[in-house]
Amino acid sequence: MKFSKQEQPLSSEPHRILVTGGAGFIGSNFVHHWCKQYPDDRVVVLDALTYAGNRNNLAELEGLQNFRFVQGDICDRVLVDTLLQEEAIDTVAHFAAESHVDRSILGPDAFIRTNVVGTFTLLESFRHHWERRNRPENARFLHVSTDEVYGSLDPDDHPFTETTPYAPNSPYSASKAGSDHLARAYYHTYGLPTIITNCSNNYGPYHFPEKLIPLTCINVLLGKALPIYGDGQNIRDWLYVGDHCRALDAVIHRGVPSETYNIGGNNEVKNIDLVHMLCELMNELAPHLPVHPSQKLITFVKDRPGHDRRYAIDATKAKTELGWTPAETLERGLRQTIEWYLAHRDWWQPLLSEEYQAYYRQVYA
Ligand code: NAD
Ligand code: DAU
Repeated sequence: MKFSKQEQPLSSEPHRILVTGGAGFIGSNFVHHWCKQYPDDRVVVLDALTYAGNRNNLAELEGLQNFRFVQGDICDRVLVDTLLQEEAIDTVAHFAAESHVDRSILGPDAFIRTNVVGTFTLLESFRHHWERRNRPENARFLHVSTDEVYGSLDPDDHPFTETTPYAPNSPYSASKAGSDHLARAYYHTYGLPTIITNCSNNYGPYHFPEKLIPLTCINVLLGKALPIYGDGQNIRDWLYVGDHCRALDAVIHRGVPSETYNIGGNNEVKNIDLVHMLCELMNELAPHLPVHPSQKLITFVKDRPGHDRRYAIDATKAKTELGWTPAETLERGLRQTIEWYLAHRDWWQPLLSEEYQAYYRQVYA
């Protein structure tokens, strides 16, 4: 079966969008972005509120007439069917996932369940819903994925493009690769208007404390060791989360079904250099640090198994076809992020729960 790859302009009618994982880090930033930009759109968040989900991330939106939060699992087919139908959803923005590589090494089961089976459940439910509604032109299924599916780059390799072969190296990235393949197959088999985005490392507000940037900021404030895996020479391409949300907005409005778009920050930095930058900024911005200068806290620890050496994104296609480029520099983005964490102790302190401490001991013991 062949489907036209022509860009189909979406109608000017307000969207009715289901955001899965909307209480997580990127999902909640995206929901804030969308509610601000498109106040006439209906926004329904479906989130299981796992350890990484936090309803407080959406507190300011709870009173809005066009906003609804539903606590539930994307693997629950009956719930997903019901929501798509009763809310007459035309667009799915699918963020829900288990997202932390270290946790996927400790216990991959949840990654297969949510990332593979959950994505399958959503695709299957949305396909039936879309077919029942006579395949509306404005329907979209945005599958939010990661650059980790492409594996690891050598120092002189060209950054990942949309045609780089998949080579995932962790249970997390393998589960995301599986879900990407399902999203692709649903276009080619059924014509479902799926679009995939593969993005580099995000940072910014509402980032759960276990990831490198918030972990570094919080540990500096607490005077705790800053664990650097291996030799600290691994490279990531950092993107401010607000820039990612603008990219996803452009993909939903102007992206072509069946296409993949790579999204990246054009900010390749070695982990050790990033942590030094964060320490410098923390020394400047945070008063009365328990250990000063905070660089003294840097500690090299045992490497992550299968640790990918380098990620980098070539986002030329997003620039030329969607008109998107990142707006934040790394320095400005990190400054804003640190200022947010300094002003929102009440957000992150409760997340350092007993459960979090147990996880922390397991990874860093
Ligand atoms: P996150 O871990 O902060 O949030 C995930 C959210 O999904 C949480 O709110 C959680 O409660 C929810 N969730 C988990 N399992 C669920 C289930 N079975 N049913 C319903 N909800 C469930 O993740 P994130 O960092 O915001 O990442 C969001 C998406 O973006 C993921 O798909 C991830 O693979 C992708 N991504 C993340 C990054 C990054 O740097 N964080 C970069 C590229 C792509
Ligand atoms: O590239 C996109 C991916 O970025 C997303 O798909 C993932 O969901 C997201 O978690 C992120 O994965 P990383 O593994 O790159 O992010 P993390 O913050 O866990 O680690 C960033 C780098 O820092 C990585 O090279 C491992 C290293 N690191 C991490 C932690 C938590 C350390 O050196 N010490 C640490 O304590």
